[in-house]
This record gives sequence, C-alpha cells and structure tokens, in this order.
Amino acid sequence: MPRFRTLDDLDVAGKRVLVRCDLNVPVKNGKAGDATRIDRSATTLKELLGKRAKVVVLAHFGRPDGKVVPGMSLRLVLDALAAAVGRPVAFAADCIGPEAASVVGRLAPGEIALLENLRFHAAEEANDPAFAQELAALGDLYVNDAFSAAHRAHASTATIARLLPAAAGRLMQAELEHLGRALEQPQRPVAALVGGAKVSTKLDLLSNLVAKVDILVVGGGMANTFLAARGVEIGRSLAERDMAATASGIAAKAKGGGCDLVLPIDAVVADKLAAGAATATVAIDAVPADRLILDIGPRSVADIVDRLAFCRTLLWNGPLGAFETPPFDAGTRAVALAAAKLTREGRLLSVAGGGDTVAALAQAGVVEDFSYVSTAGGAFLEWLEGKTLPGVAALEPA
Ligand code: 3PG
Ligand code: MG
Repeated sequence: MPRFRTLDDLDVAGKRVLVRCDLNVPVKNGKAGDATRIDRSATTLKELLGKRAKVVVLAHFGRPDGKVVPGMSLRLVLDALAAAVGRPVAFAADCIGPEAASVVGRLAPGEIALLENLRFHAAEEANDPAFAQELAALGDLYVNDAFSAAHRAHASTATIARLLPAAAGRLMQAELEHLGRALEQPQRPVAALVGGAKVSTKLDLLSNLVAKVDILVVGGGMANTFLAARGVEIGRSLAERDMAATASGIAAKAKGGGCDLVLPIDAVVADKLAAGAATATVAIDAVPADRLILDIGPRSVADIVDRLAFCRTLLWNGPLGAFETPPFDAGTRAVALAAAKLTREGRLLSVAGGGDTVAALAQAGVVEDFSYVSTAGGAFLEWLEGKTLPGVAALEPA
C-alpha cells in the first residue's frame, strides 16, 4: 500500500482545489453513455464542496491527440456531472489561459467548475512542465482521484502533483486499498481468474500473478494456448501457437512457486462463433478437429467453484468464454454468480477490474455483490502486472 495523503490531511475551506477525475465514459451517438465513472467521482467532489472548497475538475475525454475535437468536448458530460454532485457545474471552454482563470476566479466556496478536455493540448500527454505549471496556477491544492488514468504519466496526473500540495481522492484511495487487499496483503488462499483472448497481451500479468497467488485459473482464448502447449488437441480454436514456449514457461514458474495453474477440463464447442450456434459439451481431450472452443464447460465451472469455496480472496480479470455471444456467456456467468454468493456469505473478498470483466459481471447482474469492482481498464492491468503507476507514484512523498 503506497503512502500518500488523503482528503483527511488537507484544509480545503475557501481554497481552490484542482481535482483530477477520470470522466472518460463511453460515447454513443454523440451522447455520453454509462456514467459509472462520473458517479464514482462524485464522492470526492461532494466531500470537498461540503467542506467549502472551490472545486476545479480537470479531466480528459477520448484521444483527441492535442487538437480541439468538438465531439470530444467535456461539455458532453456536464449534465451527468451536475446530476452526480447535485448542483450546477460551471464550464470553462479551455483548461488553461484567461478563459479558465476567469471561470475559476468567479467560483465561491462550495461551487464547482469543469475545465475543457486536457488532451486538446498536446502538452498534457507530453507531461510538459510549463503546461503543468499553467494548470497548477489555477489552484491552491491538488487532488488526484483518477486511478483509472494513473498509468499515464501526463501533466495533470504526474508533474502537477509535485507543484502543489497533493493528496489522493476517495476513489483513488478506495481503489488502492481494495487492490492492495486483494494482491499485496491478501487473506489466503488467494485465487486469480484470468481470461480474455490472448496470452501475448497478458504475459507480464500472468508472470506477476503466478508468483503471488495460490491458484491461477486461466480461461477464455488464452487457455487454449496453454492447452495446445501441453499437447491437447484444440481443433480450430483461437490460440497463439507461437506462444507455446511462453505458456510452458509460465506453467513451470507456477509449479516451481507452488501456484496451482488451473485449466479447463471440459469445453463448449461449436463450428462458428455466432449467437445460438449448435453447441456440444466435450471433455477437453475430446475436442473435434473441426470445432472451436468457445466457453468452459459445466465440469470446469464446478471445478473452479469448488476451489473458490476454499479461497478467501479472488481477483478477476477477463471473461472465461466468448461472453458477448450467448450461449457462450454461460461459464463466465455461472462462476460470477458463485463468486457473488460466496462474497455475500462473507466467505470471499472478491475484486474485479478491466472493461470486459466489468461488462461480463454487469451482464450476470453481480456487480453490486462483488466486494469491489474497479473503474479502471488499462490501469488495473498495469497494476496486476506489478508496474508502478506514475499517477500513484507522484502522490507519494518524494
Ligand atoms: C481509460 O479510459 O482507460 C482511461 O481514461 C485512460 O484513457 P487512455 O487509455 O486514453 O489513456
Ligand atoms: Mg483505455
């Protein structure tokens, strides 16, 4: 658990507090979609407003690459932000310069403004010190509540934290505390469920996890790569054949470190990935040569659930099958329901993160039942890889 200051350590009344939030929500048909990230940013903002701070929200939206792109204006989330904090939010059409200064200058204690997309300036992603200085000039204090953008070393997440007295916001604090409880000082046994398509995108993550968890369950397309590396015939299934040696290496590392690597023992197969395709359930050593593995089977589900019943902590990233296409969501759903039940019964601390994972848990209706569901995608992965997140490191005493 990194050491840093929190809102408890700041005296914010009457002060201009710059709060870096992650308001980067999906956009559909020109409108901001799922507002989860906005809603979860509200805790910190409301606390600061209640303490009579002048709150200035800094955020990025999309990837405009240093240009003004109207479709990526933070005006798109203004209403959702106002609804989340329960009061009007002023808006500045630029995050630096006279426009920003005048909007911030008009704030009274207990009022809030949102500044336009930081990434309309290339200097943001370049972590440019002069740009960070211009942002810092708008505030007296800095709070970073954007855990999900903490893997970026940008002006508003990294350099600025050294220019003003800095602290972690409540969401940042909650993410780090729960993630720490799941991986740094977990109650054992601790299991990790890792799914998704490719071993190659999660190599560092798998290597880090086998050294830290007691049970590593691999599902999804990446399980096929492990199976193929063991010489199991997987038919036409998605797999990275050129990653066989890497997969064997991870399996050996797991064995050497006393981590139980769990692969599917049966599979749901079909001749194509399509909704309602004709399926069959087969033992893992009986996959027909002309079929694709698209989900784990019921015996694998039972095997995983039996193991979870003996665990105290679960960390989950990645679906176990092609969950977007029913019926290949069944394995992921069944394991999610079982983990939710164990959590409700107080037997398991369950922590999940990553875009697909959260979508799969939402589809299974268990997001509220998990102990903690991270708002982060890329940052969650880099944290699972054991990497230092620049936005977190910048909050620690120099
Ligand atoms: C995210 O959506 O994962 C964060 O907001 C970071 O966005 P980025 O991947 O564009 O840096
Ligand atoms: Mg991203």
